[in-house]
Amino acid sequence: MTATARAYPNIALIKYWGKADEELMLPVAGSLSMTLDAFPTTTQVRRNNLGRDTMRIGGREATERELSRASRLLDVVREWAAAPEFAAAGASAEKREWYVDIDTRNEAPTGAGMASSASGFAALATAAAREFGLNLSARDLSRLARRGSGSATRSITPGMAVWHAGSDEESFAEEVPAPQVRMVCVITSNTHKKVTSREAMRITAQTSPYYGAWIAATEEMLAEAIEVAAAGDFARLGQLTEMSALRMHAAIEACEPPIRYLAPVSWEIFDLAARLRESGIPVYATADAGPNVVLLTLPEYADEVAAQARQFGTVVVCGPGPGAQVIAADGAATAV
Ligand code: DP6
Repeated sequence: MTATARAYPNIALIKYWGKADEELMLPVAGSLSMTLDAFPTTTQVRRNNLGRDTMRIGGREATERELSRASRLLDVVREWAAAPEFAAAGASAEKREWYVDIDTRNEAPTGAGMASSASGFAALATAAAREFGLNLSARDLSRLARRGSGSATRSITPGMAVWHAGSDEESFAEEVPAPQVRMVCVITSNTHKKVTSREAMRITAQTSPYYGAWIAATEEMLAEAIEVAAAGDFARLGQLTEMSALRMHAAIEACEPPIRYLAPVSWEIFDLAARLRESGIPVYATADAGPNVVLLTLPEYADEVAAQARQFGTVVVCGPGPGAQVIAADGAATAV
């Protein structure tokens, strides 16, 4: 048997930066994101007889490190596939010994900061659950994806998603009401980041004097962001989005030794957003653990914002995308 799934990256408006539990991948605070309609990852999982997992990424053999991260997620799938509480969903003890070949392809450059770990682990969780015959709810699938990468939790969900902090059972993502927005992605760099998010998160928690303040501020910003998103208040949602990014980067930059993800060109794009706002265009900037910047705006301003941003890098205008999908042999996609 073979199972194929597709998932899209997401960009957080209210950022996740800090884990309460590294093994269970529980965040210290919740976060809010939009799943995009570009840069999908498509992943095929096929049971093998090798007694170990293998993985290819974009046609090349995965490194040991990449494979071991994927295998750790598959270990959770094997555990769930033998767990009595999932028996009704297709679990049985012999599946504990199943191993698979993974073949995964990204439409965004891996490590370019377009959240390929989010789409990657969401697609892997979805395809693996299907290959192991587990019939999981969207909530459980998002808990499973979480074990691969925190941000992958949110890529199971279409559109705007909140990922809850809490216990293993409570920490999943779900769709929330939000205004129609566009995300104008400005890709300034295709190079791999020097410090991974995972490592930098750990260093921030251990050494940044602003870490506690960052977490407290995130809880407040998230509660307000969910409220203003539901009310359709785009301007306030945008302000909170830019603030969350800048506060996250401030906490990261305050590490010992310091870590810096934003480059001079990133700041120029934040400046562009401020200038455009002065001229009456509602646009707000955000950035993840890298120099790329994403501009949040309303659909009617997306073309103008994209035209202005092109001087700084490759621009892709994204709308809200679908949640994780299972792909049938004939290519038809089914939402999970
Ligand atoms: C800056 O989800 O990549 O993009 O959970 O360790 O795999 P792990 O980290 P990851 O971190 C994403 C951090 C961020 C903010 C966000 O997406 O909320």
